[in-house]
Amino acid sequence: MSTVNQASRREHRVSVRSLARAKRRGEPFSMLTAYDHAFARIFDAAGIDVLLVGDSLANVVQGLDTTLPVTLDEMIYHTRLVARAATRALVVGDMPFGSFQGSPERAVESAIRMVKEGGAQAVKLEGGVGAAETIRRIVGTDVPVMGHVGLTPQSVHRMGGYRVQGRGDAGRERLLADARAVEEAGAFAVVLEGMPADLAREITAELAIPTIGIGAGAACDGQVLVMHDLLGLNDWSPSFVKQYADLGALASKAARAFADDVASRKFPGDEHCYR
Ligand code: KIV
Repeated sequence: MSTVNQASRREHRVSVRSLARAKRRGEPFSMLTAYDHAFARIFDAAGIDVLLVGDSLANVVQGLDTTLPVTLDEMIYHTRLVARAATRALVVGDMPFGSFQGSPERAVESAIRMVKEGGAQAVKLEGGVGAAETIRRIVGTDVPVMGHVGLTPQSVHRMGGYRVQGRGDAGRERLLADARAVEEAGAFAVVLEGMPADLAREITAELAIPTIGIGAGAACDGQVLVMHDLLGLNDWSPSFVKQYADLGALASKAARAFADDVASRKFPGDEHCYR
């Protein structure tokens, strides 16, 4: 069990304050995506500190190529399923594309819906310097905001694909400026995605708020993985992923065994029938 875990056993819940304390004490913490009640309950009981209802649900749950089409209503629905299961982990709802860009008023409205209807305790949104004013406005309504800089999947068309960001002097400076802007705007933490490990190390050392890495090396204050990558539920995973289980193979084996038992009339047996 992580140290954030031990601290929050006394406090009952992981909070934005316990994550700040974890950073001050140099204690790493874990974040996993979750999209439904069953897995959220398992991860919460296993001691995962933060459950992120990521807009990656577009890819891994809805089978889409990008995260752009997922709607605010869909995100709120899945956030509600996860929030209902979490008794200890901090629940963060991801703001989907179109729910916060371009209009701080819309952003505030969307963030409040995530909390009020979804049960999120915080929201996450992608963007650096360009998102700073939006973060400030949401934080001004007392909704905690997690930033997200580097490889931001909602910017796939600007980036020209899912490419590592922050390479070269100009790229590094841009991401440093993005991370600083997110912190100055009042975010309580920031996801660093898809960037060289030494840049993530530099950002982590400079910022007072916790950084949470994904494809950003070992120096970040916390680490996040998409649950389908962790559990082997995808056909393909990026090279930075460590797969901790092969649930895909287990599920396939179980489904085949069931189909075979039905075909051969081995299931249901007498013990499975009501009398
Ligand atoms: O949507 C998501 O799952 C994310 C994580 C990869 C950080 O943003």
